[in-house]
Amino acid sequence: MILRSDYRASDFLLDRIELHVSVEALTTVEAWLHLRRRPGADPAASLVLDGRGIELLSIELDGTPIAPSGYRIEPEQLVVPAVPDAFVLRTLTRNDPEKNTVLEGWYRSGPMLCTQCEAQGFSRITYALDRPDVLSRFRVRLEAETARYPVLLANGNCVESGDAGPGRHYAVWEDPHPKPCYLFAMVAGDLACVEGRHRTPSGRDVALRFYVDRGNENRVAHAMESLRKAMQWDESVYGLEYDLDIYMVVAARDFNMGAMENKGLNLFNARFVLASPQTATDVDYDGVESVIAHEYFHNWTGNRVTCRDWFQLSLKEGLTVYRDQCFSADLGSRDVTRIEHVRTLRALQFPEDAGPTAHPVRPDAYAEVNNLYTATVYEKGAEILRMLASVIGEETFVAGIGHYLKQHDGTAATVEDLLASLEAVSGQKLDGFRRWYSQSGTPSVEITDEYDAAEGRYTLRLRQHTAPTHDQAQKTVLPIPLRFSLRDDDGQLLQLSPQPPLMPRADLILLEAAEAELRFDNIESRPTPAFLHGFSAPVKLQYAYTPDALSALVLNEEDGFLRWEASQRLMFDALFETMNGEPGEHSRMLLHTLQVLAANPPADKALLAELLRLPAESELAAQIEPLDPHAVTRARDGLRHAIAQALTGPLSVWAAWMPTDLSPENRARRSLSNLALWYLGHLNSARIRKLALERAHSPNMSLAIGGLAALRDSDSAEREEAMDAFHLRFRDEPLVLDKWFAMEAASARPAGLERVTALLTHPDFKPNPNRTRAVLGTFMRENLRSFHAPDGGGYRLLATELAKIDAGNPQLAARLVEGLLGWRRLVPALGEHMRAALEQLAQAGPSRDVAEKIGKALE
Ligand code: ARG
Ligand code: ZN
Repeated sequence: MILRSDYRASDFLLDRIELHVSVEALTTVEAWLHLRRRPGADPAASLVLDGRGIELLSIELDGTPIAPSGYRIEPEQLVVPAVPDAFVLRTLTRNDPEKNTVLEGWYRSGPMLCTQCEAQGFSRITYALDRPDVLSRFRVRLEAETARYPVLLANGNCVESGDAGPGRHYAVWEDPHPKPCYLFAMVAGDLACVEGRHRTPSGRDVALRFYVDRGNENRVAHAMESLRKAMQWDESVYGLEYDLDIYMVVAARDFNMGAMENKGLNLFNARFVLASPQTATDVDYDGVESVIAHEYFHNWTGNRVTCRDWFQLSLKEGLTVYRDQCFSADLGSRDVTRIEHVRTLRALQFPEDAGPTAHPVRPDAYAEVNNLYTATVYEKGAEILRMLASVIGEETFVAGIGHYLKQHDGTAATVEDLLASLEAVSGQKLDGFRRWYSQSGTPSVEITDEYDAAEGRYTLRLRQHTAPTHDQAQKTVLPIPLRFSLRDDDGQLLQLSPQPPLMPRADLILLEAAEAELRFDNIESRPTPAFLHGFSAPVKLQYAYTPDALSALVLNEEDGFLRWEASQRLMFDALFETMNGEPGEHSRMLLHTLQVLAANPPADKALLAELLRLPAESELAAQIEPLDPHAVTRARDGLRHAIAQALTGPLSVWAAWMPTDLSPENRARRSLSNLALWYLGHLNSARIRKLALERAHSPNMSLAIGGLAALRDSDSAEREEAMDAFHLRFRDEPLVLDKWFAMEAASARPAGLERVTALLTHPDFKPNPNRTRAVLGTFMRENLRSFHAPDGGGYRLLATELAKIDAGNPQLAARLVEGLLGWRRLVPALGEHMRAALEQLAQAGPSRDVAEKIGKALE
């Protein structure tokens, strides 16, 4: 276990790294490390370098070979006991990118070789101080066969290039900005380049270069446009400009994560770069926009100021997610963007916080560093900053970030440094928020109210509570900013006066104690309250809204998030009702509300779609405990059917829309239209199946997927025809074929396990991270029926596959094993099967990545 409390500064600093990399059958790396003892460090300390999976061919200190007795090679380290205070260490090592299946370090992806160094992949390339608080200037000479690898890239600027003997060439790249080695990148490949330009306000002309597989040049426009928008947004909102002359993005077919912010040379999972209306859905377009922005925003929050150690990961990730969320909200529909982010938070982060891998946003310990890249560090980390911004004000927050970047530019910082800047600029003490970083678990806030008609007094009583989590038994109180409003009988907002400190603003309660009471006088009739506008805090709110109040919120509230929240509650209530018996009052209220909504729809059709959308199976599974997946899917299907029947008229009108252009208005219409068709799909009418089949043939990918989704669970000739045609049409388009595999893996038709097994042996199943996630990830998350097969077959299938995947790519396996960790939340009959599957996997000799998670789940 690596502990946060064990942090020690490095004994050595590494001011400069020069690399000569030569790609042949193997790759040889000649490295010159300009090392010096850190002032104040132990004068007798040995030099300890990190290195994994590389072969040392020679080693010299200041030009003289070190005798074999002068150093030691350990499994993941190279130790040189006696070194002077300043010296150049030269090593020559060799590695094999073709055999690198972990996709960390230097590896092959299609027509290129590329790197992934975060968190500790650099030490798979050469011996180094592989830690984020050691910053170095890099110069790289990359040499390879000209015909096979015409493109040679690394960070910074290309300062030299030319021939290197028969059939070979080289390029030298120099990065003027010191950086930790996790931000190092290089690429050698046969790739097409699409170039654009951006001019910064201070007049720097930046070349924007996207490198993609040949043939994909016409799918870069959206990513290019997103990058320009992100640059402009950071310039205008944060006053931050790009600081190099070239910004490169390389799209890789095989990538463990979404993307990587290497300085000046981002590496991306191709699915977050490539988009065309024929191959990408509207959701994919949004994904490209936000990931492009996320990696760009890292240039300041992550690269110019980086993290002292990996426990501080949220310092860059939480902050950059918050920034990309704000960017998406500014560009698109604010309400719908927020709804999507909250959906993700609840589906991924809340269960994490309640399960065996619960950890604080700034964790205290880890076994495997890659297991720190969690929804808690990313999404909950962003929520903390959102709360801070709402408490100190958004402008003050932006100024505080400016202060932090200025103070710590070119260094490795801590969460504490960021908070200190926010305190300095706002003049407010933010101690309570420090606890949000160190305490795990999702707080609940219970609110009750009382109206005294005789006194004209309305009282709110608030109570917060965080249940013990797997990692932490003791919990303390946290500052919780709750936006709220009160309305009178006519639906008019009551004008309230602040009551600091509990109510610092007319629309905000800042709950800092375990309990609090807030009184309002001169209130003429019982007001209707609403809480948590825009989801102002990542908490579980408990307030006994009546069905009528929820309905009124759905229909009349201004805050789009609250409208959605209310419709979700009506849907959950209706689901619980049917799970425990017959549709009753809640179901009637839901259907009535949706009918009224359909008759008076909001102008924003994308919002309307969200208000009408049933929670996904994965969202339900995450929020219902104990979980009987089969009861949940039955109830959800019942509700889908009831809504389809109750709203057939308006749904049929919407379902007929098939706009194909990419304007925001038409994107919103597609979202509504696909949803309408999906509902109607449950009515099993030939007319709807025909409509869906027609849509599945659409040249617009959003519509085509909408058509398939409506047919997905039906055992019909139309479904068969639509799926076959889609498969045929996109056989040679890996990213689109992933959608076909995912659709099959999610289908609730009978014999699900057999079908998923068949997918895994399908001739087109060429496993890579995206394809594997498309099948197994979709199966475990979105196919409750088959994954939770009563005999445990779904769990065993996943465990068996994971053991194989883990042998080659532990990071990928460790993501997917999350599907098996929540056995305690399941009804016992299923939970036992899931636990048995975990034990099966534990016995297979799992990687450190997988073992750490299984260990916690079985504890
Ligand atoms: N820094 C990247 C991002 O969020 C993620 C890299 C994750 N790498 C890993 N090995 N877990 O933008
Ligand atoms: Zn990031």
